[in-house]
Parts: sequence; C-alpha cells; structure tokens
Amino acid sequence: MTDSTSQSTASASTPTSDRDGAASRTDLSAVRVALIGAGNMGGPVARTFLAAGVRPENLRITNSTAASSERAAQELGARAAASRSEALEDADVVVLGVKPYQLLDLASAIRDEVPAGAVVISLAAGITLAQIEGALPKGRSVERAMPNTPISVGEGAVGMMRGGSVTDEQHRLVHDLFARAGVAVDITEEQVHAFIGAAGSLSAFVFALIEAMTDEAVRLGLKRDLADSLVQQTVRGAATMLLESGMHAAVAKNGVSSPGGTTVQGLAALEREGVRSGVAAAMAAAAQTSREMTQG
Ligand SMILES: NC(=O)c1ccc[n+]([C@@H]2O[C@H](COP(=O)([O-])OP(=O)(O)OC[C@H]3O[C@@H](n4cnc5c(N)ncnc54)[C@H](OP(=O)(O)O)[C@@H]3O)[C@@H](O)[C@H]2O)c1
Repeated sequence: MTDSTSQSTASASTPTSDRDGAASRTDLSAVRVALIGAGNMGGPVARTFLAAGVRPENLRITNSTAASSERAAQELGARAAASRSEALEDADVVVLGVKPYQLLDLASAIRDEVPAGAVVISLAAGITLAQIEGALPKGRSVERAMPNTPISVGEGAVGMMRGGSVTDEQHRLVHDLFARAGVAVDITEEQVHAFIGAAGSLSAFVFALIEAMTDEAVRLGLKRDLADSLVQQTVRGAATMLLESGMHAAVAKNGVSSPGGTTVQGLAALEREGVRSGVAAAMAAAAQTSREMTQG
C-alpha cells in the first residue's frame, strides 16, 4: 500500500533522526511555508511543522481577516502575513487549509502567485489532485494530505497523496514536514475513503467511545476526574500495548478473559449490544460520505 512511511513520537530526542534510524531528514530551518486557513486542521498542521523544525518566522499564516490571522499566529507561535500575497511570496510550501467548498476558488485566486518551485499541499476532503492541478498553472506540484487532529500531540496519522508533477525531493520534504505527526503514510486517492474511516474520522469515534465509557464510570460511582484519568489511561495503554508488542487485538482480549469472569461477561454484553457492528457502520458511513464528496 505504501511506498513511504515515516513514524515519530513527540518525545523523540531529536527532530532530525527517525525512530527507526533511517537517513537524516531535510533541514527545515530555511523552508518557507504559507498556510492559508489555520483553523481546526490547519492549526494542528502548523504545530506539527513547527515541531519538525520549521522556524516560526518562516511559517506565514493568513486567514479570512487580518484579526483572525493575527490570533491564529499568536496561538500557534508563528507569523501572521500582512496579506495573502506576502504569505505566498518565495514560499517553498503552500498549505491550503480552507473548507473543501472554498478550495478550488482559492486555488484559482492564487494561481499566479504560487511560486513555480513550490509544492502545494491541500488538506481538503473530497477535492482530487486533478481538480486542484486543473485550477493551478500547468505543471504545479500538488499533494493532498489527510491528517487527523491527534497530530497536534504527535500521535496522529496522515495519509499523503502525491500528484504527478511532485519531484522526489518535494515528496521527501512533505514527509519531513509531517515527521512529528505520528505516522505518515503514502496512500492512493482511492484509498483515502478507507483512510478517512480508519484514521481521519476515527479519532472522533474514539472520543465518543471515551465519553460513553467515562459517563458510565461516573454512573458506577467514580468521581469525574478519576473516571477521566482511568478511562483515558486504559485506552492509551491498550493501544500502546498492541503497538509495542505487535500482538493481535483478539489475543490481547483473550488474555484478559478468564472463564466465567467479569471480562467475558462484559464482552458478551458488548456483542449483544452491537458495538462491533456500530463501529463498523460508523467507519463505513465516513468512507461512503468521502466517496460521495469526491466528484472529480
Ligand atoms: N477538522 C478535521 O478533523 C479535518 C481532518 C482532515 C481534513 N480536514 C480538512 O481541513 C480543511 C479545513 O477544515 P477545518 O475543520 O480546519 O475548518 P475550519 O476550522 O473552519 O478552518 C478553516 C480556516 O480557513 C480560513 N479561511 C476561510 N476562508 C478563507 C479565505 N478566503 N482565505 C484565507 N483563509 C480562509 C478560516 O479563517 P477564519 O477563521 O478567519 O474564517 C479558518 O482558519 C477542510 O478542507 C477539511 O476537509 C479537516
């Protein structure tokens, strides 16, 4: 599925060497990034770029108003551009973080200002590489990146789709920018629908499950703050155990289930209540919606 994968953690000791000891990454200290749209997703993308080594003064932000650009830049520890043109001037990387319905109009509006050597990264769901390339001058380098919000703490996932004009060097640069995001993998535009079900939207499904588990812990008699920490730590611990051991989830589950014990009774209740099929339905709905949003 992938031709390139990068993994990292927020606790990595140096931003220039990969967890698996792969070759050193690009020095990002001179890379200039224009971020158009630093909202719920553009903001975490800015944070991960800064964590990877982009210098705050080289990360120029522009939102829909000067006040909003200033606010976002301050929050993120980056620079507000005086104008969209200023953000784009000499940019090596242009990130488009606006809503999907705005994306192609924005691409058309900036087509003459995107520097010829820049790589344009779109975060938008449902807008294809071909559509974005069609809105820009011929031969422009375009990638799509589909991140989830846990990239803001270095524990997210990003699926990257590479356009036909992107050079190996530019593609490496995009990977290096996301090197502190968690896991960054190359996917095809066909795979992005499954990726949205399995990563992009999945964090929200996990938040909903965590909320339900915490509420039930409170109903069972635990104080809210204790319930929060027990549930969150257990979810993190379960995921970390699987990640670090490589153990199959079913094997780990069986390891907690003694005959006639508390866990098997709880697992039987989960199956009776249809939790497995509910989770599958949520993921399938997200993937299907992504397919329907894609018209290109
Ligand atoms: N949210 C997610 O979990 C997620 C996951 C994967 C991908 N995405 C993608 O990320 C993109 C952004 O979604 P979002 O949830 O981050 O939306 P959002 O929170 O509404 O952010 C959109 C940003 O675009 C800015 N903006 C709007 N019009 C603009 C313009 N004409 N020029 C410059 N900036 C403008 C907004 O600035 P103002 O605040 O000043 O209006 C805001 O900062 C979408 O394409 C979405 O598909 C989102």
